[in-house]
Amino acid sequence: MIGKGIVQIADSIFWIGEQDRETDKFEGLWSLPYGVAYNSYLLKGEKNVLVDTVKCPFAGDFVNKIAAVLGGGTLDYVIVNHMEPDHSGSLGILREIYPCVKLIGNTKTAEMLRNFWGIGENVVIVREGEPLDLGSRKFIFAMAPMVHWPESMASYDASDKILFSNDIFGAFGATEGGIFDDEADTDMTESEMMRYYVNIVGRFAAQASKALAVVSTLDIDVICPSHGPVWRSDPRRVMRLYEKWSRQETEEGVAVVYGTMYGNTKSAADTISRTLSERGVRGVRVYDIVRSDVSQVIVDIWRKSGLVLAACTYNMELFPPMAELLRHIENKNMRGRKIGLCGMHSWADASLRCMSEFIERSRGGWSLVEPKILIKSGLKEADIEQCELLASNMASEIKK
Ligand code: FEO
Repeated sequence: MIGKGIVQIADSIFWIGEQDRETDKFEGLWSLPYGVAYNSYLLKGEKNVLVDTVKCPFAGDFVNKIAAVLGGGTLDYVIVNHMEPDHSGSLGILREIYPCVKLIGNTKTAEMLRNFWGIGENVVIVREGEPLDLGSRKFIFAMAPMVHWPESMASYDASDKILFSNDIFGAFGATEGGIFDDEADTDMTESEMMRYYVNIVGRFAAQASKALAVVSTLDIDVICPSHGPVWRSDPRRVMRLYEKWSRQETEEGVAVVYGTMYGNTKSAADTISRTLSERGVRGVRVYDIVRSDVSQVIVDIWRKSGLVLAACTYNMELFPPMAELLRHIENKNMRGRKIGLCGMHSWADASLRCMSEFIERSRGGWSLVEPKILIKSGLKEADIEQCELLASNMASEIKK
């Protein structure tokens, strides 16, 4: 470390990010049990270039780091890879301190600069593959539209063979002192990276795959994303993980997710999960949707080849927490998995009907495993047999 919160990445390249352990929910939606890092990189040289900024509440500390690295010099350029305010939130204060600084982005970035921050001047427009010489460094820009915003892009410093990938290859979790991948807790990094991928990028897996194909052609020594660790020991490893997730590749296992008011639906879910295990299925995970972290439930649904949903009816609709989960699943365009359904009601079914409609809307994206179960009030012997039959059929299907 060369100064408080400053880490040298390469000759004249410095990590000057911020660790956020205060925000409870990323984007107001996704839990942050281990916090999150906003990475920013300052490249000193003939021209001083900053790659992305940090979320506004951290701007005070951030600008002190920039001043410390520049040592009286000025900031010439900011590459704006992405306009979401966790990365663009400090542009305003930077323009006050360095009024001549130029912002580099694409045409969509320019539009968002105006709409978010009222910035319309000193903007340099770049295009896919066009090199840009900034003093002693040459940059190439790879557009990554809809990963996960339309203006998203990655910047490649061809002189140092470093890819500044922004959200691509990002991870939840503050970097606990381990700025580099070889210093970090690998298990936590990988699980937090997958949770980030599925919840933030997952809907745009096809676009992520295209972006990955583009950056894979570059000669990369180090990947510097805007969240999570800097990948210097084996950058190709993180690319392989992305490729696997983008294909929605599943592993054997079943996520059993239930929503209950008085425990009867839980009994059905327990019967199904026990039978799955008896039939030799490994990797069964059972979630009470009311008490579970939805971002983790979504990851396990993404990861596993089977899903069983069990839910009660509430006010003639699907139990609300389960309805919310289905909206998330649809939003993420998950496909190619086996699914079993178990609905409960006492006097007017809506649960099974709504969950069935969810499958129909996927137009073949989900493969239904019979029987669809509808239970009235409490589990009877015949209902238990139906749950066991569904679990047996699910086990056979996912082991095919
Ligand atoms: Fe890390 Fe899409 O912002």
